[in-house]
Amino acid sequence: MLLSIHNITKRYRTYNTLFSRDTGLEFMAVNDVSLDVKEGVTLGIVGQSGSGKTTLAHIMVGIIKPDSGVMRYNGEQYSLNKNIQMVFQHPDTSLNPRLTVYSMLKDLHINRTEATHLMDIIGLDSSYLSRYPSQMSGGEKQRVSIARALALHPKLIIADEPVSSLDVSVQAQILNLIKRLKTELNVTFVLISHELAVVSWLCDEVAVMHKGCIVEQGKVEYVLNNPQDSYTRELLATSALT
Ligand SMILES: Nc1ncnc2c1ncn2[C@@H]1O[C@H](COP(=O)(O)OP(=O)(O)OP(=O)(O)O)[C@@H](O)[C@H]1O
Ligand SMILES: [Mg+2]
Repeated sequence: MLLSIHNITKRYRTYNTLFSRDTGLEFMAVNDVSLDVKEGVTLGIVGQSGSGKTTLAHIMVGIIKPDSGVMRYNGEQYSLNKNIQMVFQHPDTSLNPRLTVYSMLKDLHINRTEATHLMDIIGLDSSYLSRYPSQMSGGEKQRVSIARALALHPKLIIADEPVSSLDVSVQAQILNLIKRLKTELNVTFVLISHELAVVSWLCDEVAVMHKGCIVEQGKVEYVLNNPQDSYTRELLATSALT
């Protein structure tokens, strides 16, 4: 198994927002989640806003430490692993506004030849290497985020809502790019999305998250055609897929 996580839990304390007071209460942002990611099998994680998808993604790449649970990459326990990279939900906040694309890649020890090659892979002219994030469109910034994730030659990329902040016309281009990278570079993707149409187009398997728990998982065609859980049925009923 490329990646497997077992019984991952993350609690957050709740605060009274009006008085910034710690209420002493905790809630489970991720509640006893176990998942397997097989090499070459694209896994979609769906669920409504606040269901814990980003928290789970950040745990899997090692940005957040879980309260409990075990994560394994190729059978070996890890907390951080350069083979697992992430494309963040908001390119605007994940790209450093003070760095050009090239300086960002240079920080990852990528030389100019490799950087030019990366630009070629993600479909941007090498002149973009000297641009700052503010000089690029949303779609271009998301391409650069993908280039940054690819820079260290990962085996697995976790893409958190990679197209939700983009125009519909640009969404298709980025999704096509991801589809191409899967086969050309032999990278396995975990794709987080609240859009079932996106998941059904790009993913082989899907896990449905609700209130921090995985309520259902399996092959995409199966789960979307025969949802067993009432929450999955609700999601399907409210999505554009039906
Ligand atoms: N650092 C934090 N401290 C406290 N609560 C947090 C923190 N980060 C996330 N949460 C809460 O945990 C829950 C899950 O958040 P998360 O961002 O993982 O959801 P999500 O499924 O990615 O939502 P979205 O679809 O809107 O991106 C939410 O209720 C959120 O408010
Ligand atoms: Mg999120």
